[in-house]
Amino acid sequence: MKILAFESSCDETSVSVIENGGIKSNIISSQLFHTNYGGVVPELASRAHLELISLLTRQALEESNSTMNEIEAIAVTTEPGLIGSLIVGSSFAKGLSLKYNLPIIPVNHIEGHLYSGSLENKEIEFPYICLVVSGGHTAIFKVNSYNDYDILGLTRDDAAGEAFDKIAKLMGLPYPGGPAIDKLAKTGDPQKYDFPRPMLHDPNFDFSFSGLKTSVRYFLHKKYGENIPEEVLPDLCASVQAAIVDVLIQKTIKAAKKHNIKQIVAAGGVSANSYLREQMILRSSRYGISFFAPDIEYCMDNAAMIAFLASEKIKDKDHSTLFDYKFRVNPSALRAKR
Ligand code: KG4
Ligand code: ZN
Repeated sequence: MKILAFESSCDETSVSVIENGGIKSNIISSQLFHTNYGGVVPELASRAHLELISLLTRQALEESNSTMNEIEAIAVTTEPGLIGSLIVGSSFAKGLSLKYNLPIIPVNHIEGHLYSGSLENKEIEFPYICLVVSGGHTAIFKVNSYNDYDILGLTRDDAAGEAFDKIAKLMGLPYPGGPAIDKLAKTGDPQKYDFPRPMLHDPNFDFSFSGLKTSVRYFLHKKYGENIPEEVLPDLCASVQAAIVDVLIQKTIKAAKKHNIKQIVAAGGVSANSYLREQMILRSSRYGISFFAPDIEYCMDNAAMIAFLASEKIKDKDHSTLFDYKFRVNPSALRAKR
């Protein structure tokens, strides 16, 4: 079955074609101009999606050697995300579905990340523990099947990616801050500065990152005022990164141990972090736990993960039931209940 999918929940416009679960194309266009504003400007994001979405659809079809007449279903991210951006993707998807009389499958973006490890890696088996870490969300899940998962922990304030982005801004680094910190940290000492590891020893699986951001702000202000010398940035970045990653890893492994689960998957933009990937492998292997993360292309926002989850959701379903155009876009966070 060939599925055409759209992802436009934030600042990536992405269109993908998959066939029988295999990726045929996955075009991603990142809106780099937000760097000029130090963060995503919602109004500009939706305008840029609108400008690009038809062109990227043509590219995704061409790269997969497909025509619209061969597409059998359409999938689209409908929640959560920036409302204007979600509306662009879902309106475009609805239009195509009506024109070509195709089933349409609304997909939750976080759920897309949750199953994205299995896009390319068929070794991953249910149940597994999944750490979803992005700019908007940080959560630990126990994933039981394609239709069933439990939320074990959530962030109580900032998401991990948000912490990377905001702390990078304090250090004068460009948006998005995660990749910038990751790069500079490679030559730095993660033990140089002892930043707090919030909620590390709490008995739950929740996170909190806003205190860390405040602590870095006070530290920088007291030590350097307005001018942070360039030569201290690698150590600063490595130490901040270690503080965030230590909490993410320890809590995720604790969840796997508690539920006696031997597979951990990390997904979402922050799962691209090189220190997180390296340390997760190292630390989880001490407990006989295997670690998986998607290729970098599928860590960031992408339509392939949306197409993939849609294909799993509609397996064994009567496609004539998939023509419900009444779905709404929903900007708020996780729909699932804890
Ligand atoms: O999943 P994603 O592309 O978009 C959302 O759904 O939010 O995640 C974007 C987030 C940004 O906060 C970005 O700074 C972070 O992922 N990120 C990273 C890295 N690459 C992207 N954080 C740390 N290290 C990275 N290498
Ligand atoms: Zn995302």
